[in-house]
Amino acid sequence: MPPRHRLPAGHDTLDQILFSQGFGARRECEGLILSGRVSIGGQVVDDPDSDWPTQGLRFTVEGQEWVYHDKALIVLNKPAGYECSLKPGAWPGVHNLLPLPLRRRGLQPVGRLDQDTTGLLLMTDDGPLLHKLTSPKHHVPKIYEATTKHPITQAQCDKLLAGVLLDDDPKPVKAEGVEIAGEYLLRLTLTEGKYHQVKRMVAAVSNRVEALHRSQIGDLILPSDMAPGQWQWIDDPAVVLPKRGAKQG
Ligand code: URA
Repeated sequence: MPPRHRLPAGHDTLDQILFSQGFGARRECEGLILSGRVSIGGQVVDDPDSDWPTQGLRFTVEGQEWVYHDKALIVLNKPAGYECSLKPGAWPGVHNLLPLPLRRRGLQPVGRLDQDTTGLLLMTDDGPLLHKLTSPKHHVPKIYEATTKHPITQAQCDKLLAGVLLDDDPKPVKAEGVEIAGEYLLRLTLTEGKYHQVKRMVAAVSNRVEALHRSQIGDLILPSDMAPGQWQWIDDPAVVLPKRGAKQG
């Protein structure tokens, strides 16, 4: 629908703002506003055509506080028992953990974690950013905590650092960093994102992953006070992008 009047740059009408943030079809957003269920700065705003600067705009819809984000990038603390697939099968999808406006915006997981893996999962509706973050050229370090079946040995760590062969790649796959964090706890840093990579690498050194948790991507550490199933906005994608001068390709 074309704008009903010319708006200053960085401004939009309230109904369009609600629509863009996932609060429903245009008509539904208009209805929410006209029925007095939207407020800004503590005041009800019942004019769908009122114009507002979008940057950082805070508003409330039916008691739910929201902050305008042109593009959404969020971090979710993924619990076990959820699939990252857009068409989940045996398990519920991670989308079920998001509030309705984010589900309507069609956020996609940035890469995938297995159903039984927990921890840091990024999700976005920013197509170019998704492409950048999932490109094989994107060598951002990811840190995983793997609980193993057998005690971890230094020989296993050395092999993981030197590179192990996986069945779908003729070249050895190396861990960027390996730390024995406990008798059965291995902290692995990887810069690639191959299918079941941690589990297969650990199996290749004759151990077995019993539980897997991702704790960090780039400079973004999963906040320790974030319970499984909770999510937060990320306002600066630079925290999960490669550093200037980092290895590419
Ligand atoms: N490696 C795995 O094996 N599983 C994951 O979920 C992520 C990395």
